[in-house]
Amino acid sequence: MTYQTITTSTDTAAKVLTITLNRPEAFNALNTQLLSEVADVLEQADQDQGIGAVVITGGPKVFAAGADIKEMASLDAVGVMNDARPKHWRRIYQFSKPMIAAVNGYALGGGCELVMHCDIVIAGESALFGQPEINLGIIPGAGGTQRLIRTVGKPLATKMVLSGEMIDANTALRANLVAEVVIPERTIERAHQLATTIASKPPIAVRLAKEALLKSFETDLESGLNLERKAFTLLAATEDRKEGIAAFMEKRKPEFKGC
Ligand code: CAA
Repeated sequence: MTYQTITTSTDTAAKVLTITLNRPEAFNALNTQLLSEVADVLEQADQDQGIGAVVITGGPKVFAAGADIKEMASLDAVGVMNDARPKHWRRIYQFSKPMIAAVNGYALGGGCELVMHCDIVIAGESALFGQPEINLGIIPGAGGTQRLIRTVGKPLATKMVLSGEMIDANTALRANLVAEVVIPERTIERAHQLATTIASKPPIAVRLAKEALLKSFETDLESGLNLERKAFTLLAATEDRKEGIAAFMEKRKPEFKGC
């Protein structure tokens, strides 16, 4: 499949797919085509046993400067209501395998929201995160108000959404928006390294762990614990659990098969 607004590459040995946003002329602004291409590639990767984890990046200079404002400008309320974008965001959210964001430069508006669709975020020291929609007379429209507050807490989320001010990588690290900060030259490499580690783990366990972790954002503790217990029980039926435990006992490296 050929894409116009992203590039993809697969490290077959590592089982890692890298998606690079590729609209440099617009600071990787997320137009509808780009969102749809990201969603398409993730849907394919979900079905592909040869992919265990995904890295998503905007490259060395910028992650993404948000929704494409020039495209957005032509939409009236009815146009926004009928927009395909929420459907594409939903498809991205439904990706069942781990997705790691490698962020250099701006991650603004929809760019910051895309970051929050990822399971782990690695930021270069140059990274800047923000929800500047207020400057355009709008508010975040792809989960920014909901996910940011759940991630960084009320004081910082409110400051970012109401003032439009950006935060740097180290502030994002302290606020738990990102997991690690590295020198910009290492951002993609570190994300790939982490994706490789995760892709080497038993895939069914990884998938259920992601599902259980994400559910904690949406559910009460009792329901979350029930879901965790069911996933834990289900894993007792997998060959990979037998293999993992046997390998530990026999002091050897496990060979997981994804079943
Ligand atoms: N949409 C469309 N084009 C964009 C863009 C965006 N979000 N961000 C940058 N660009 C384009 C600019 O128009 C410019 O193109 P031209 O050279 O053709 O004019 C090019 O990228 C470079 O941008 P600047 O000249 O502005 O570069 P800068 O270094 O001075 O500033 C910036 C960089 C701070 C990212 C600035 O471009 C900016 O503030 N961008 C908009 C950020 C923003 O408001 N994002 C939120 C969008 S709304 C949203 O995301 C809604 C949602 O959640 C659903």
